[in-house]
Formats: sequence, C-alpha cells, structure tokens
Amino acid sequence: MSAPTVELPSGQKMPVVGLGTSQSRPTEVAEAVKAAIDAGYRHIDCAFKYGNEPEIGAGLKVKFEEGVVKREDMFITSKLWNTFHHPDDVRGAVERSLRSLGLDYLDLYLIHWPMAFKRGDAVFPEDAEGKMMWDDTPFTDTWKALEACVEAGLLKNIGLSNFNSKQIQAVIDVAKVKPAVIQVECHPYLNQKQLLQFSQEKGLVFTAYSPLCHPNRPSTKPRDPSIMEDPKLKPIADKYGKSVAQVVLRWGVQRGAVVIPKSVTPARIQQNIRLFDFALTSEEMATLDGLDVPFRIVHLDWVHHVPEWPFHEPF
Ligand SMILES: NC(=O)c1ccc[n+]([C@@H]2O[C@H](COP(=O)([O-])OP(=O)(O)OC[C@H]3O[C@@H](n4cnc5c(N)ncnc54)[C@H](OP(=O)(O)O)[C@@H]3O)[C@@H](O)[C@H]2O)c1
Repeated sequence: MSAPTVELPSGQKMPVVGLGTSQSRPTEVAEAVKAAIDAGYRHIDCAFKYGNEPEIGAGLKVKFEEGVVKREDMFITSKLWNTFHHPDDVRGAVERSLRSLGLDYLDLYLIHWPMAFKRGDAVFPEDAEGKMMWDDTPFTDTWKALEACVEAGLLKNIGLSNFNSKQIQAVIDVAKVKPAVIQVECHPYLNQKQLLQFSQEKGLVFTAYSPLCHPNRPSTKPRDPSIMEDPKLKPIADKYGKSVAQVVLRWGVQRGAVVIPKSVTPARIQQNIRLFDFALTSEEMATLDGLDVPFRIVHLDWVHHVPEWPFHEPF
C-alpha cells in the first residue's frame, strides 16, 4: 500500500506517510528502510543529528539496485543541525548529508531548530559549566544560504522544524523561496491546533513528528500519559479492526498533517502505512482532538537560555 501525496509550493508531491529514523540504530536502520520501501513507503525522514545517514543510504542503494524504486520515486528529507547555521557552513552540511545518503539532491531540507549553536564539530557545544554555547547567526541568514543550495540544484524544497509561528513568519517575510514545510512534534496529547491552522493559512505543509507520542521514549516517567494505553482509543481501534497506533496516525493524516512514525519493526512499519482503508467519523475525530494535554516530549528545555528557543511563545 502506498500513501497519498500532498503538493508542495514547488509543485513536487510529498507522500503523507514517511518513515521516521531518529534513534534507529545504525545497525538496524538499513533493514528498516528496505522493509519500508517494500511496504510501500516512498518518503524517509532523516537528519545529520540522528547519526545514521550512511546506513540509510546503504538501505536505499539496495532498493535502487534491485530496481524496486528509482531515485525519483523517493522523497528524502534531511535537516541542518544547529551548529551549521552560519552561512559559510550551510552548503558543506548539505553536501555531507548528500554524501552520506549517496544522493545528489534532497527533496526537502529543514532547519532542524531555530537556535544556532556555536560553530564547530561538537554537536552540543557546552562550556566548562555544561551550558550550551551559541552563535549569533540570524536564522534568516541561514535561510538565504539554503536558498542558494536550491538555486544550485542540491535541494528541491526547503523548510523549517521546531519554529514557532512568529519565527515562521520572520522567514516568510524574507524568503525568495517560500518555506514548504513546518515539521513539529504533534500527536493527540499535543495537537498543535493553532500552529496547524497557521501553517495551513500560510501555505506550508505541516508534518507531525513523534506522531505516536513516542511510546518507548527513554525519558518516560510513570505518570506521563501513554497513548497506547489510552482508554478512549482502544474501542475506536477495535471498531475498525485496527491498532491504536493506526487510529492515532489516521487522525493525523485526516486532519491534514503528514506523519512520520519511526519503527525498526517490520510488522509495525507495515501497519503504520495501512491508514487509507478506513476513516474516522467526526465524533471520533473530536474524541482524539479532546485528548490534548498539552504534553510535549521534545522541548530541549536545558537550552532555553539560547536565543530563539521556540517554546517561549504559545504556538
Ligand atoms: N524535527 C525534529 O526535531 C524531530 C524530533 C523528533 C522526531 N523527529 C522525526 O519524527 C520521527 C518519529 O518520531 P519519534 O521517533 O520521536 O516517535 P514516534 O514515531 O511517535 O514513536 C516511535 C516509537 O514507537 C514505536 N512504534 C512504532 N510504530 C508502532 C506501532 N504500530 N505500535 C506500537 N509501537 C510502535 C517504535 O518502536 P520500534 O522502532 O521498536 O518498532 C518507537 O519506539 C523520528 O524518527 C524523526 O524522524 C523529528
């Protein structure tokens, strides 16, 4: 089963289900990519930060060589890490991801976070007291450098991740190449209603990361909500003969988001794209809408002192 697509401002089509790859160990991610392509995925969400782009590239290469898919069938995203925001560092970062993935262009490249960390090789450059050090590059300058990479043919579309509405607007205000996508955390416990509406009004495609609220996240505390055990979701899943995960992902795509669930388990990879043979009723959509807490998993609150940390704003 393949996923429907949504059209980006460039005219290119983006599948509404993609495979997430963060925390997929290098030893397992090539197999996950191959299983995903066999299951019908044509969209893979990657990032330099995940430390596994070479292995993702190896998985892609196998499927290209087998003739299962061609490069142009696939929609591949990567992201610019926070230490590479300086305009002099942007093209090198793009080229590094391209080399790792074995590709000569990316379909989408996102600024991973609005904060710029100190330039250099440390992914989290901290001072002697363990405090994050930053760089004063405005993200609008980073955006200009990304536009040059579009011009050079390395990137088909560019976009933003973890930006709040004011920061998105600041990029729109200077952009020659419009941001195509905003990727943020979004699941029933953090439904991002206002940011979803804002993005749709501005013509950006909204991608939901951690769309399953990352059930096995390492930081889970006993009192954190667990989506897989939510008593309101099991009856809906049973009604359609689907899993709770499928109901949650279906809610995501049915409200207009792209979803990028991560899994390295073939059976889950397969089920996470089987979302298009059922539809939730408006009452069921309202039930899921009503689960908002809001509960955020990915907040990087230990760097809240860094300029442009996005979560000071309501959305
Ligand atoms: N832009 C950003 O800053 C950012 C931040 C976070 C994530 N992301 C992207 O979004 C992707 C997804 O987010 P995420 O990895 O945080 O969380 P997620 O997709 O919500 O959850 C992943 C977890 O759910 C499990 N899982 C997957 N399908 C399942 C199913 N059908 N039933 C039960 N459990 C299932 C996976 O286990 P197994 O793998 O063991 O099957 C994994 O432990 C990431 O991989 C990454 O590509 C982006």
